[in-house]
Amino acid sequence: PFPLEEVRALPKAELHVHLEGTVDPATLLDLAARHGAEPPADTVEGVQDWYRFDGFPMFLERYFAVLELLRDPEDFATIAERYLDTAHAQGVVHVELHVSATGHIAEGGKAWAPIHDGIVEGCQRAADRTGISWGLIPDMSPHLGAAVCADAMEEVFAHDLTHLLAVGMGGPTDTWRTDDFSPIFRRAESLGIPAVSHAAEHGSAWEIRHAVEQFGARRIQHGIGVMADPDVVALLVERGIPCDVAPGSNLALHAVDSPEAHPLRRMLDAGIAVTLGSDDPPLFQTTLLEEYQRAWEWCDLDMDGMAALARSSIEHSLASDADKSTWL
Ligand code: ADE
Ligand code: ZN
Repeated sequence: PFPLEEVRALPKAELHVHLEGTVDPATLLDLAARHGAEPPADTVEGVQDWYRFDGFPMFLERYFAVLELLRDPEDFATIAERYLDTAHAQGVVHVELHVSATGHIAEGGKAWAPIHDGIVEGCQRAADRTGISWGLIPDMSPHLGAAVCADAMEEVFAHDLTHLLAVGMGGPTDTWRTDDFSPIFRRAESLGIPAVSHAAEHGSAWEIRHAVEQFGARRIQHGIGVMADPDVVALLVERGIPCDVAPGSNLALHAVDSPEAHPLRRMLDAGIAVTLGSDDPPLFQTTLLEEYQRAWEWCDLDMDGMAALARSSIEHSLASDADKSTWL
């Protein structure tokens, strides 16, 4: 059986989780009530049902509906604090929270500074109690277009940069071939902020090469399409670029048809660095520990395999070397 308590006790980093994707059904109902907004369903069970998706487009539509219910700084503080507590209870020592910055700013018409400050307030409340380490990865939703994302990210760069570990790319990838997002990543780099990117979640290995070569991505979220292209496998292995894999998400969004079809084992065997993340845990009825359990079951790993994945998450985090050495 899966050694739950032993895996919980391993110091772990969570590098692939979206803050807005941590809103559980009860919290979503609270948010709607607070704002006098119509919830998508009236009960926890109803929202749980609403959190079941036919595929990626339906998921994105509902994910953006959750964003719309996050409005004032205390909304952001509450969900950030809650998630860091949830992570801490699973033995997580460091969380890199992806935040859908362009979704709030460009699509939602909200200002970044109060959102950022609310998130920081919530994270600091949790960190003061538990000692958990954290940082933020504001990310872009490319369906908004490069020009819109560039403007929105300038608003991000004009505010406090202290807690930004990276800038990221999420969402659908269909505009990647027509729009040039690379100047936004170069601008971030000029400010000392590295890049990470979702790629090859539903799409091809080409997206990974594009994220690495055009965006300068230091880590790839998902990357499960990599095995179709040996040259891209070699690119990741040679450069030591990890994939932050979220098996439960991949199954929930039908990025793979079955556990047997998931490439995690083949990625590990090919020498690709892997970390495990929960992506949008309550939306996919998962937790980080359940992701370790999936890796255990789907890849037939033992406790050494669990420890290697936990260590990998810390080594590939964007935390300081001093912090990493205290966890390893
Ligand atoms: N944003 C939140 N979750 C995501 C996912 N699984 N893929 C792309 N963008 C996302
Ligand atoms: Zn993701």
